[in-house]
Amino acid sequence: MKVAVLKETFPGERRVALVPAAIAMLKKAGLEVAVETGAGLAAGFLDDDYRAAGATIISRDEAFAADCLLTVRTAGACGDGWCHDRDRLRSGVIVVGLCDPLSTPAACREAAERGATLFALELVPRITRAQSMDVLSSQANIAGYRAVLLAANTLPRILPMMTTAAGTITPAKVLVLGAGVAGLQAIATAKRLGAQVSAYDVRPAVKEQVQSLGAKFVELPLETGASEAAGGYAKAMGEEFYAKQRDLLGKVVAESDVVVCTALIPGQKAPVLVTAEMVRRMKPGSVIVDMAAERGGNCEGSKPDETVMVEGVTILGPTNLPADVAGHTSQLYAKNLATFLAHLVKSGLPKAAVDDEIVRDTLVAADGQVVHPKIREKLGLPPLPPAAAAS
Ligand code: NAI
Repeated sequence: MKVAVLKETFPGERRVALVPAAIAMLKKAGLEVAVETGAGLAAGFLDDDYRAAGATIISRDEAFAADCLLTVRTAGACGDGWCHDRDRLRSGVIVVGLCDPLSTPAACREAAERGATLFALELVPRITRAQSMDVLSSQANIAGYRAVLLAANTLPRILPMMTTAAGTITPAKVLVLGAGVAGLQAIATAKRLGAQVSAYDVRPAVKEQVQSLGAKFVELPLETGASEAAGGYAKAMGEEFYAKQRDLLGKVVAESDVVVCTALIPGQKAPVLVTAEMVRRMKPGSVIVDMAAERGGNCEGSKPDETVMVEGVTILGPTNLPADVAGHTSQLYAKNLATFLAHLVKSGLPKAAVDDEIVRDTLVAADGQVVHPKIREKLGLPPLPPAAAAS
């Protein structure tokens, strides 16, 4: 089976799905690896590096003739580029990548209509067995680190305490909202830079993790017992809960120099944790990095990839922090992807073995139809009969 790595076309996307070091693992799994010319350049990998690792270098046209296409972004995650790629998909081709299936399910249906078998890496379950395939975690981890660097570069103060002959500088106060993968790395990074860090999360279970990083856990008198869903993700709470949460968070936000927002409920619009009124109560010069800007934002007024100024407070809404450090994020993505592919091969690829949880959860389109129950629901399609779902 021949797999081809496509060059990313989404504006600003510098990552590549496979780095040279990951090729050996795919070859070991019995796959022949080809790479579109120039695919790794923006991440720092030359065609020659891929050749040396045993891949062949091919054109984009040749890549689309492969049995399996490897991407960082495909379908709904690759913007306008999808229209071009979609029309080039051969029936029976396997496509693997991030495809934003929960927010852009229509693109999954288009892939199905072209006869493609589509695997969405966003849907890798958060189970121990699949940890090494979890691209959302590997990328969010680095994004959390980058978010703090971005804030530090924008803040008109330094983060650490400093005692100098010219006086003492007090440490900056950094508040991290949401202590999942991105949030925990943001906490660790801000701590390393010397800030005084506190964090809040709706899941009480993360309190210990926050404290183990040396940060203070902000406790709000809210009933959070039912806040955790299966798979370690947060559950959506009612609007009444969010209103009370904002009320209680107001003072902590107002006292912070930096707020990093990372709160997420998978597949839903981001909960608003910081209102415009709360922003106005912050000191001028303060910085908010809203990592959820692409999903509607945790902070009112944040705009995707724009810098918004509100009475001296800067609100940043970066949507692709992993692409800023594409060398390392590609390395991690490639390891996740190679492990996932090796798992698919072991499970019988090109046939998708839906009795395996990892395969079943990630398989979005097969045999000309959308097969993932959640995506079917989003598209308003009736559930498939059990036999068809498992074919
Ligand atoms: P995660 O699921 O590991 O963590 C999200 C955390 O938010 C969870 O701990 C959850 O309990 C918490 N949360 C949910 N609702 C909350 C509320 N009302 N109050 C406080 N905490 C709440 O997700 P992960 O992987 O850390 O991603 C976080 C965010 O970062 C997501 O919005 C994701 O889309 C975004 N992201 C953004 C990137 C960028 O470049 N801007 C790159 C990678 C991720």
